[in-house]
Parts: sequence; C-alpha cells; structure tokens
Amino acid sequence: MESNNPIEKIIHLRELLKKYEYEYYNLNQSSVSDAEYDKLMNQLIDLEKEYPQYITPDSPTQRVGGTFDSSFKKIKHSQSMLSLSNVYNEEEIRAFTQRVDEAVEKCDEYVCECKIDGLSISLIYENGTLLHAATRGDGVTGEDITLNAYQIKSIPQHIDFKEKIEVRGEVYMSHQVLDELNKIQEAEHKPLFANCRNAAAGSLRQLDYQITKSRNLDTFIYTLIKPESYGIKTQYEALMFMKKLGFSVNPNAKIVKNVDEILTYIQDLSERRPLLPYDIDGVVIKVNELDLYSSIGNTNKAPKWATAYKFPPEEVPAKLLDIIFTVGRTGRITPNAVIEPTKVAGSTITRASLHNEDYIKQKDLRIGDTITIHKAGDVIPEVGDVLLNRREKDAIPFKMISSCPICNEKIYKEEDEADYYCLNISCPARVLESVIHFCERKAMNIDGMGEANVKMLLDKGYIENVADIYELYKYEYELKHIPGWGEKSVNNLLAAIEKSKKNSLERLLFALGILQVGEKTAKILANEFNTIDALMDADVIRLSSIDNIGEIMALDIVNFFKESKNIELIMRLKAYGVNMENLNVSHADTSSFFYNKTIVLTGTLSFISRSDASSILENMCGAKMASSVSKKTDLVIVGEQAGSKLDKANALHIQTMDEQTFHELLIKEGKVLF
Ligand code: IVH
Repeated sequence: MESNNPIEKIIHLRELLKKYEYEYYNLNQSSVSDAEYDKLMNQLIDLEKEYPQYITPDSPTQRVGGTFDSSFKKIKHSQSMLSLSNVYNEEEIRAFTQRVDEAVEKCDEYVCECKIDGLSISLIYENGTLLHAATRGDGVTGEDITLNAYQIKSIPQHIDFKEKIEVRGEVYMSHQVLDELNKIQEAEHKPLFANCRNAAAGSLRQLDYQITKSRNLDTFIYTLIKPESYGIKTQYEALMFMKKLGFSVNPNAKIVKNVDEILTYIQDLSERRPLLPYDIDGVVIKVNELDLYSSIGNTNKAPKWATAYKFPPEEVPAKLLDIIFTVGRTGRITPNAVIEPTKVAGSTITRASLHNEDYIKQKDLRIGDTITIHKAGDVIPEVGDVLLNRREKDAIPFKMISSCPICNEKIYKEEDEADYYCLNISCPARVLESVIHFCERKAMNIDGMGEANVKMLLDKGYIENVADIYELYKYEYELKHIPGWGEKSVNNLLAAIEKSKKNSLERLLFALGILQVGEKTAKILANEFNTIDALMDADVIRLSSIDNIGEIMALDIVNFFKESKNIELIMRLKAYGVNMENLNVSHADTSSFFYNKTIVLTGTLSFISRSDASSILENMCGAKMASSVSKKTDLVIVGEQAGSKLDKANALHIQTMDEQTFHELLIKEGKVLF
C-alpha cells in the first residue's frame, strides 16, 4: 500500500515493521533484509519526527531490540476494561437477576461461563494481523505486551478476518505447566510460584519475551468488542464467532434461562472443578442478548449486565502435626501450624500462621487434631476449624512458650497486646531476618543474599550483622570454594554489595528495619531530611510535624537512633562508604511560591490534568503533595466541583488557591508556557 497521507504511511510502516519483528524474533526468519528493515525504520523515525503528535507508545520506534526499553509502554484501551461485581450465594444471584429484570422488563437468557483465574488481556487485530496486545492495567490504560502475546500459542497472530477487531479474554497457566515450571524453579533454587495465577502474571509481564515464550501460557477469549459491527446479537454467538476465527474459547459456556438453571450450572461446574486442567474461581453470569447491555448499563467499575459468582474457599481437612514458633526481625514470636502435606486449591500446604496465643486458644487447637485449612484470598494458607468429632484422646493441648525458641532468652508481652517478643537484639533468628530484610530488593537490593545464602554466611561466621556484609570481600577465597558458589557468583555478590553503597538514603532507612518505617515512610524521611545525620538530630516534635508521621512512629524513630548498637552500626556503614544522603534531591526551584509547601489538589483543573499538576508541583516547584487535608497541609488548590476537601480546608483555616491564580503563578514562575 502506498499512500501520501502521513498518518496512513505511519500506520502502514508500523504494521510492516511489527510483522518483520515478529518474523525475526519468533520465527527466526525474515522476509526482508536487515538493510530493508533499517530503511523502513528510518522512514518511520523521520515521519514521526515530522509528526510527533502521532507517536504512540507502541510504535516500533519506541522499542529497543525487540524488547521494551525500560518498562512496558502504556496503551489506552478503546473502552475501559471493567471488573465484575461478585455474588456469593443464591440470594445474591436472585438479587442480580431481579435488578436486570427491573432494567429491561424481563431477561430470558443468560450465559454462564467459567471464571478463569488468570489475567485479562486485550487483543487488537487489523488486516487480519495481531497489532496490539495489552494487559488490563488500571482498566483505562494497560501495558503493551504485544511481543509477549506473540509467544502464546493459543493467541493467533493472524486471523482470516480483515476488519479491525478487538477481543478480550484471560491469560492463564494450566496445572500441568505450573507443576513443570515449579520443578525447574526448585532445581534452580528459585522461589516456587504459589499458584497458577501468580505464575501466569509473572510470566506475562516479562520484559524479556523469551521468558514468556518458555512459560507455555494459554488463553480463553470471552469478550468481543463492538459485536454489533459484525452483526452479532448475543454473547453466545460472540463466543462462537470468536471460536470460528481461531481463538481459544472455553467449552463450558452454556445458555441458561433462569436462576434455577444458573444454580444447576454452578453445582455441576463445582463438581467438575477439581477435574479441570486449569484454575477457575467462579462462574460468570452474563445477560445473553447484547442489545440489552446499554439499557442495563454499568457502574464506573463493573457492568450491571454481568456478575461473578465466586466459589467458597476450598476447605480441606488436614492433620495438625505440631505447633512451632518463628522469630521475626523485630523479635515478634509467631506460632505456626505444621500440617501433614495437604493439597489445597492447587498447591501443597505444610505450614500456616497461627498468629498468636489467643488465636490458638480461641480455636482450642491441639496437636494431633484434624483441622480444616483453606487459602485466604486464594493465596495465604489459613486454619479454619478443629473437627472435634475427629479429636483423639491423646491430642496435646497447646501451651505457650516462655522463652525464645532460638536464643532461649525470656520472652515478653505487653499487657494489652497479643504478641510476645524476644528482646535480645543479638538473637540469631532476629539477626538472620534483619540481614535478609537489609538485602531485600526494595531495601539495599543486594542480589544473592536470599535466605539460604544469608543463613550459610551466618552459620560459617563470615557475617554476624548487616555491617559485616561490607567486609565479606575478606572471605572471597573461602566463598569461591563453597560447593555450588564458584568464581562468577561470588564476583556477582561482591559487585552487588559494592553497588549497594551507592543507594539513595531512603533504601538504607527502609533496610535498617526501624519499627514502623516501611518503604513509604523511608522515602518521606529521606526527602524531608536529606541526610541521615539530620534525621538522627530530629526530635519527636520535629518528626511528628511531618505529614503522615504520627507521634508513635516519631517516637520509634527517635528511639532507634538513640540505641548505641544502632549508632555504632550506622557509623560502621558510613566508614565502609555506604551512602547516607538522599540522591533524589529534587532540582526544584527553591524560590518557587510552592517550594516546601504541603499541598492538596481538589476538584478538576481545566488547563492541566491533576497528575501533571502534581508532577510540576512536586518536581519543578519542590512541593510535597498530600492526598488528604489535615492541619499539616499548607495549601489547597481548588478546581471545579471541589468537594469535602475544600470544606475541610475552610474549617481548618488552611490557605486555598483557585485554579486561575494557580495557573497564573505557574506561568509567572515559567513552569508552564500558557
Ligand atoms: S467478562 C466487563 N468473563 O474476571 C467485564 N471475565 O473479576 C468483562 N474473568 O476482569 C469480564 N473469566 O479478567 C469475563 N468468562 C469470563 C471471565 C472473566 C475470568 C476475569 C476478568 C475480569 C475479572 C473480574
């Protein structure tokens, strides 16, 4: 196709380049030479330079070497990818059909489908070729995973249908694939995936699409966008239409006429659920006649013409073999159930947290009991009830321990608290957990310092605390001779340790494990004080004047920096060259009117989006943005239709600024041009 229209030319070039990329990266062959490919790419680059307004995030010019440059590009969905409301029982299903009947007089047909436990995906085809694939993202904007979608065998790259068409469905991983993947993970000493959904998510959102390829993902497609364009009148017809085009459509969809038939479908599917080779977590009930959708309507989150019946969590009987105690990095003692290996919702459970003494006593758990277990939120194993009719005479009643299971020191509990603590800061369990935490990805990000390695380094006496990590190089020779380690992994570990010295302050603050200081608070503190010395000088009054920091947290921070062991630790880290400064110090204009002010935006702004306004205020003007109005707020910027935040600002006598003044000030300060 040759065209003089620049937009058409751009689109045509993008399609061609995507096709050649697909051939090159996936089929290992190409119908054009490298030179021809480069020529087309240069044409597209030139055109996009001339018409920058047409650059889209998914353009091949925005990708580097077949992969995405840093993270996935964003794609705005043609229509929002909504979620589904949930129902849990017959009564709620009846209420749903009643609401539908009220909206459209009477609905005679529904389609029941499996609710596949995976991740939703949108696929757009033009001229019979898969052009874009996107994740759901926030529903409005998703991530461009086109290259990854090419790796999924059940997603056709070409369909025999030339009109533009968008379909949506679910990417999932089958039980068999998960089992195989976890065997490999285990052999490579990598963490296992807890379930099919997590594994599918981890496999789809991979910047390296070769990983996606190796993970054998699968799909079921269930939504046709703009079905009326193709003369499709019902959801069931849409499913058949998409099946005919070559999409994988779940075979269990069924037309039903009323609530009784919906209930029979649910009952039937529940019985067959354990035999299905993939995870489902419920039944989606959809009005069949598509014409009715517009009169029934949507809420802003979910359609009113469909709902999801969620299966109750699978409760499985299991034997409680023992109750053991673990010690966290703060010294908190947690009792854990040791369970005879039992399969629950796709994975084998051997442990479950029992939280604290009261929890066990309330349930009257005894060692040797048969209990029920389920997965809370379908992920975390949880103990249900004791099956008293199966209790044996020799079941052993629970008795709380009085000393730390690891260091034997006496353990303590505040009167009105539920948890016991080991207060010995040298307790080996606390040290182990604090070193693991220090090295975590979100903390100092030292790759190679996972639980097994940290435990080994502690056991061998190469480290005794986090500061010793920076002296590990002294054991380079010994480390390289540990079975399974070798030259390369030790060099990598030492390099990662060295690199961590250059982290910005907020990572160190999080890594230190100060009580209550999570990632977010660490960032607030780093931004507020910029150096650890300034933070160590701050008192409770100064700390609690900061937005989001309350008095108790302030006290914990002050107490942490009073402790001589902690001061010594920080001094050692400093001596090793660990950075103690905020490296994200903004290049904000310190003379800006907004500099250092805590600002809340409310209402809609007409000259700029709220997120752009926040970004200008934060990055260019050095303001601190807050989401709610409190007495720590300095200024509330008020757009159209401002609500309760404005009322609160007035009640607290906080300065407000209207949109026009805000706009004029930004222009005056040169932050926006017009
Ligand atoms: S229809 C407007 N059908 O469940 C919403 N969704 O909890 C259209 N899901 O985001 C969704 N199986 O990812 C639909 N047969 C099915 C489904 C299904 C799984 C997922 C989908 C949705 C989520 C809502």
